[in-house]
Amino acid sequence: MTTASASASSSMGKPQAGGPLPMPAALREHIQVSEELPFLTVITPAQGASSMPKLTALFAQHRAWFMDKVNRRGVVLMRGFPPGDTQDFHQLVNEGMALTPWNGFNLKGLPGFVGNWLRKYAEGLMGSGDYRRYLDRDAVQLGPAGDSIQGPHVEGGGSPKRTRYLTLCCFEPSEHLAETAVVDLHAAFLRMPRSLQEKYLKAYNRFYFITARKLNLIDRLILSQSPMKIFETLPDGRAKLATQPTHATCAHPETGDVCLQPWAFARNTNTHVHAAANAIYGDTRGPIGRCPNADGTNYIWDLCDGQGRDVAWTDDEQRAFFEDLIRHAYLVQWQKGDVAIVDNVRMGHWRMNGKQGKRKLVQIQVESFDADLHPVTA
Ligand SMILES: [Fe+2]
Repeated sequence: MTTASASASSSMGKPQAGGPLPMPAALREHIQVSEELPFLTVITPAQGASSMPKLTALFAQHRAWFMDKVNRRGVVLMRGFPPGDTQDFHQLVNEGMALTPWNGFNLKGLPGFVGNWLRKYAEGLMGSGDYRRYLDRDAVQLGPAGDSIQGPHVEGGGSPKRTRYLTLCCFEPSEHLAETAVVDLHAAFLRMPRSLQEKYLKAYNRFYFITARKLNLIDRLILSQSPMKIFETLPDGRAKLATQPTHATCAHPETGDVCLQPWAFARNTNTHVHAAANAIYGDTRGPIGRCPNADGTNYIWDLCDGQGRDVAWTDDEQRAFFEDLIRHAYLVQWQKGDVAIVDNVRMGHWRMNGKQGKRKLVQIQVESFDADLHPVTA
């Protein structure tokens, strides 16, 4: 599946500063660059086999060029630089990219086993979860693929404080399909009719959910450390939790491009995501069921204005929104050793349906980002 053409810039927000950085001559003899899609750059070794330590050295020497590519394009996929182990991936991120790990689910930098326990605990409280697990403090093995697709989202989009980039490394591919879908959220904004653009520009995403059980003391302690705040306690002791509403759009920090900021893990949006996925794919990928994680939580995503008043968001608008994102997505079919860096403001992503097999896709989220500091002003 390929995308429709996407404009590289918007008339809204600050103009792009200059053009893309030219490729350094010293890099040319080491890598080949393919840019057949509007938002995905694929980098492969210029000749023969290479390795992740070699890529780390190249990235460190030419970091400005690599990061300019990520910021202007959306996704840089590096293929043919396989890691020896997880440590090679850490070194690429820490020393090559010089990016600082930042994980919204582990802000205290807890060891992996504590992070796993906390996540499992939170899933019990919320009623469901994505079953991802921490391999260490920063690296997370993503949850298993199944017969459903996730809703389109920016990582951590339920809160204004989220990660700026995602880095991903495939240690083992899936048995069948289970690609990662990526879509340009600026191009999606530009495709919208003017009336809808105006609605999204004024709107805030509002997320709230009802806990699966009555809150106990440990629940309250853990919640006090999370972006979720207790909004209301119901008569049966369960709590209505909410994050602070956050703009439905964000100005891309480097280019000013207006980017939509979805986080479709809600029960109400799941119906529309599921219908949209089936409308686009039919039976070409096998049966696509509803996302069990979105159904397992009492989670709601709606729109409000700056004063917290409801903004109408019809079923038809939601369905059209998700159909557009799914239709224009590119599906990254991971190969063993692939590594990618994804701009988590410009790009939305989600896991596609497929057979898990031995799939081992590891993610390190990097650099904190506060979307509230980047509102669309024009
Ligand atoms: Fe995700």
